[in-house]
Amino acid sequence: MKFNSVALTLATAGSLVAAHQHGHRHHHKREVVTVDGPTVVRYELDGKIISAEDVCNGIKEGKLAWADGNPPTDPCQTSTTTTTQEYTPTVAPAKFIETSSSTTTTTTTTTTTTTTTSSTTPAATSSASSPTATGLDAVFPDGEIDCGTFPSDYGAVSLDYLGLGGWSGIQYVTIVGELVSSIITAVTGDSCTEGAMCSYACPPGYQKAHWPSTQGATGQSVGGLRCKGGKLYKTNPDLSDTLCIQGVGGVTVKNTLSQHVAVCRTDYPGTESETVPISLAAGAEDDLTCPDGATYYQWEGKITSAQYYVNPAGVSQEEGCQWGDGSQPVGNFAPINLGVGENNGKWLSIFQNSPTTTEKLDFNIKIKGDNLSGSCKYENGVFVSDTGSNDSGCTVQVMSGEATYEFY
Ligand SMILES: *[C@@H]1O[C@H](CO)[C@@H](O)[C@H](O)[C@H]1NC(C)=O
Ligand SMILES: *[C@@H]1O[C@H](CO)[C@@H](O)[C@H](O)[C@H]1NC(C)=O
Repeated sequence: MKFNSVALTLATAGSLVAAHQHGHRHHHKREVVTVDGPTVVRYELDGKIISAEDVCNGIKEGKLAWADGNPPTDPCQTSTTTTTQEYTPTVAPAKFIETSSSTTTTTTTTTTTTTTTSSTTPAATSSASSPTATGLDAVFPDGEIDCGTFPSDYGAVSLDYLGLGGWSGIQYVTIVGELVSSIITAVTGDSCTEGAMCSYACPPGYQKAHWPSTQGATGQSVGGLRCKGGKLYKTNPDLSDTLCIQGVGGVTVKNTLSQHVAVCRTDYPGTESETVPISLAAGAEDDLTCPDGATYYQWEGKITSAQYYVNPAGVSQEEGCQWGDGSQPVGNFAPINLGVGENNGKWLSIFQNSPTTTEKLDFNIKIKGDNLSGSCKYENGVFVSDTGSNDSGCTVQVMSGEATYEFY
């Protein structure tokens, strides 16, 4: 089931106030990222979320009327009321989820409103941080860097070929109460503008440290820096004051082929597009970041793993690590995914990019390690483990030491 989040607006009876007010900016975009899941209908009154019950009573009593036509569901028939608690991450019965297989992009013409915050520009303090301090260890100074400046100086990797000003993804969000009610995903040519969440790639072995506690109302994820008053701000300073952090370590990917291989991580939390690149030249080995389950992003209370897309041999980073059109088995249509996560142990998997494609990869992948719980490899298009072979995938736990995904 595919859907878009629905934010309905109620206005007080008789005053058919326009839903969009001054201080808002309209964005017209082609792509809307949607996520499979239950549809949640939310009701908004004067910028605040109110329960279906209140809506139902308000309508019955004649105190409220629909501002934008009738809703898709009758508020008097649903017992579902959404609360912010529902989406507050908690440490919990951890379960691995495949983060992006449920993501799709629909092509629609959408008009959405992004709240424009006050144009007050915070005074730049030149003493707060070293003006030239740079690199992965540099503390990112809130409110100093223009939204139009990609923060390469703080270790983020600029992806110019995406046409997003170096960002790995940009989300124009509408925030209602404590939730993001709608997300418009930027397309080539767009930029990091007021109110947007601007996400970025980190080098191999590192991962983005910033995503806001305010997440999508219907389970969509949001990540990156926030553009506010024309300047960039960290969104998760409690986790790190730098832009990039390391994972738990000990996992690498090695390309023994004679051709280049592009491995691309899902930009998650964020657009969930596979835009975070690892470019492996023939013979190269690089770190594969394994997020720490205890501290990295949790989706609805569940620990998440990193998901990587493996493109066929010879596909460039530029072609492989962005959204594809389905005409070739590259990008989000790449045949194989690698899942890498830590949750009471390090877990590594290889699986088919299903249901997107049944296409086979043109090389083999084997998980090698000092001390693995079993075996797991993808050979001649089949997944083979100690317990036999199958078409969907295999997983091993790293009991101790290091592990490598070897391409051969
Ligand atoms: C195939 O492997 C996957 C991943 O390990 C597993 O979830 C599934 O149960 C297996 N299917 C069969 C038929 O063995
Ligand atoms: C493998 O790891 C387990 C769990 O950490 C440990 O008990 C075992 O001794 C290790 N085996 C080897 C051969 O290192």
